[in-house]
Amino acid sequence: MSNETLTITDNRTGQKYELPITDNTIRANDLRQIKVADDDFGLMTYDPSFMSTAACRSAITFIDGDRGILRYRGYPIEQLAEKSSFLEVAYLLNKGELPNQEQLDQWADVIKYHTYVHTNITKFLEGFRYDAHPMGMMLGAVSALSTFYPDAKNIQDPENRYLQRVRLLAKAPTIAAFSFRHSRGLPFVFPDNDLDYVGNFVNMTFSIGGQHKPNKVLQRALEVLLILHADHEQNCSTSAVRGVGSSRVDMYSAVSAGIAALYGPLHGGANEAVIKMLDEIGTLKNIPDFIKDVKDGKKRLMGFGHRVYKSYDPRAKLIKKVAYEVFDQTGLNPKLEIALELERIALEEDYFISRKLYPNVDFYSGLIYQAMGFPTDYFTVLFALGRMPGWLAQWEEMVLDESQKISRPRQIYTGHEERPYVPIENRKATVTA
Ligand code: CMC
Repeated sequence: MSNETLTITDNRTGQKYELPITDNTIRANDLRQIKVADDDFGLMTYDPSFMSTAACRSAITFIDGDRGILRYRGYPIEQLAEKSSFLEVAYLLNKGELPNQEQLDQWADVIKYHTYVHTNITKFLEGFRYDAHPMGMMLGAVSALSTFYPDAKNIQDPENRYLQRVRLLAKAPTIAAFSFRHSRGLPFVFPDNDLDYVGNFVNMTFSIGGQHKPNKVLQRALEVLLILHADHEQNCSTSAVRGVGSSRVDMYSAVSAGIAALYGPLHGGANEAVIKMLDEIGTLKNIPDFIKDVKDGKKRLMGFGHRVYKSYDPRAKLIKKVAYEVFDQTGLNPKLEIALELERIALEEDYFISRKLYPNVDFYSGLIYQAMGFPTDYFTVLFALGRMPGWLAQWEEMVLDESQKISRPRQIYTGHEERPYVPIENRKATVTA
């Protein structure tokens, strides 16, 4: 064996084991040979929240959290955000390479072909309460698509998988815009295939009586935000897509699990939570009390901190620049002053420095979305729209990965040993709901 190994001595038995190290990783399954007795299950690793467990091999997105690096298929996020369109990035993530002009045109055409949703989807969306959260609507509508495309169950067929991915990428802006219109009590505006992907989404969202005349700077800013959100390797929602998809369910059901995960305030819901937090703080003079509460563990500074980035989030840097471009057009968002002051204090305070807490992608994105005219409860839908190509690429990679089986973590059982059943008349009321 080469010296790329790990030698373990089990002090319970004195036995030594040599495990191979590949890619700086040992196989958790190799630990199973470490036993005290023959009928022992073998050693496991305990890693709640997957703090240091790699669950797959992936060639899609590279992150170096210590150095603040994010690349899609090897391309730095800064260059993609500056030069690419969202559809180009979606192509890159899903096909592995940037398209040439002809490939990009074909890709845009095939997506346009699928932008309409079945009329029954519009009825389905109309059935939601007037105040339904648009993310809940998006979640419901995407999972409902699995009933409209039962052929999506045929996940062994590469052409079929491609068709379904194109369908969802094409329909996501339509569903997102319809959710927005429903919450505003506005009639749905159908896709206009003379417009490009982002332009079409903006038109379906904001148009009142005729084609919407977009502000080109704001539209490009929205496109950059979508690019910045397009993938982020094995985050909570992507892991949900992969985990649910590993049961070989259709892609729409798997992606709806990702949307559900993204809905949460610690993940995609953080941009909404940032705005609520800024509203709650209200004025600059309340910031010191708020920071005190955070340091006392009573509150969290939303939009700060990240599981992976420990020096800075490169997306946050880019987003701050976009924020100024947007505010140049719309006028300053009054909450920006509070956000900037919070950031200034947090970057100087030991509590945040020692825990390596820096602004993440969501600290400024909510302010930008608000300046663009999107309501707070819609921000996470915009995140979902951006993340869609990433979920689809990760799902495809998972299906093609022969080393993947159904996702099934182990547990350390902490409950009772076997005990005899107690008839109901003999039970004491020991458990409160
Ligand atoms: N405000 C105050 N303290 C924090 C924060 C925060 N935002 N984030 C982490 N901490 C503290 C935490 O209390 C803990 O302190 P201690 O060691 O004294 O117990 C320490 O920092 C480590 O935190 P953690 O919760 O163990 O870190 P994690 O890697 O599990 O959590 C996180 C990552 C993003 C969930 C967390 O930082 C957080 O809740 N941030 C606010 C929500 C947010 O902005 N989420 C968006 C993430 S970026 C978008 C995305 O990719 O989804």
